[in-house]
Amino acid sequence: MEGSLGRTLGILTGASRAFNRSLALLLAQRLASGSALVINSRNYGTLRTLSKELGKVRQDLQVLCVSIDLGCEAGMKQLLEVMPRPPDLQRLLLIHDAGTLGDVSKKIVDFTDPADVSGYWALNMTSPLCLTARILGAFPPSPGLKRTVVNISSLCAVKPSKLWSLYCTGKAARNMMFRVLAEEEPSVRVLSYAPGPLDIEMNPELAQKTKDLEKSQTLSKLRTCRSQVDWSVYAQKLLDLLEEDTFESGAHIDFFDE
Ligand SMILES: NC(=O)c1ccc[n+]([C@@H]2O[C@H](COP(=O)([O-])OP(=O)(O)OC[C@H]3O[C@@H](n4cnc5c(N)ncnc54)[C@H](OP(=O)(O)O)[C@@H]3O)[C@@H](O)[C@H]2O)c1
Repeated sequence: MEGSLGRTLGILTGASRAFNRSLALLLAQRLASGSALVINSRNYGTLRTLSKELGKVRQDLQVLCVSIDLGCEAGMKQLLEVMPRPPDLQRLLLIHDAGTLGDVSKKIVDFTDPADVSGYWALNMTSPLCLTARILGAFPPSPGLKRTVVNISSLCAVKPSKLWSLYCTGKAARNMMFRVLAEEEPSVRVLSYAPGPLDIEMNPELAQKTKDLEKSQTLSKLRTCRSQVDWSVYAQKLLDLLEEDTFESGAHIDFFDE
């Protein structure tokens, strides 16, 4: 398994929390010598901690911590400026995991102020679109280079859920955006991958804020029920999909799919 993904430049947004941290550590094991991993979130401290853990897993891996806000132009620009270029690159792997829930205390009829929603689209839609465009532009097709873009999706992309209008809409729109990318760029492998429920930071926040009593209780139960599938299992499945590379480009694959 070690080195099975080849000499890779991996870019992981939203790498400060459990799922993507787990993904980064498992991914590192599959990269060939000479690979580089760019990890991003706004929190430099958590990125440094992850970087040290990655160093224990793979001493030969170049890890770059980029703590920037992806919701703004300056942040995106900075990410591109520091992008390493490992020689004889075999794989470019861009994984979009950064995201937010939006205001889960409001129903659609409560969103009367456009400013409340436009900031949400900036991070959750505009940023993955423009970042993908810039990174693919910076690494154009070349013989021997496989380019893969992964959108971390959710069941909410396909199933509506009360009070989660921004999140559901954003995830559905992102799925479509990446399907279009797959149509437009046949040389790029594109995947929307939905992990199962994650017993991490997003859920307590959600359980506290949501006014939907039934959902709040379900989420609280989820926090106390440690029999949930471990998030490294979700990450492992994604890496297996990438390694097998037989998925239809642009597809939405859920962890629970057969
Ligand atoms: N939670 C679930 O049950 C669940 C289920 C299915 C799918 N998912 C999806 O899986 C992914 C991870 O979910 P999660 O629960 O792990 O979310 P999370 O804990 O809230 O992590 C979100 C990540 O995005 C980063 N981020 C937020 N705003 C940012 C900004 N402006 N610029 C740069 N980075 C930013 C956060 O880091 P900083 O705050 O340090 O910047 C964090 O690393 C998400 O795409 C989510 O939609 C989650």
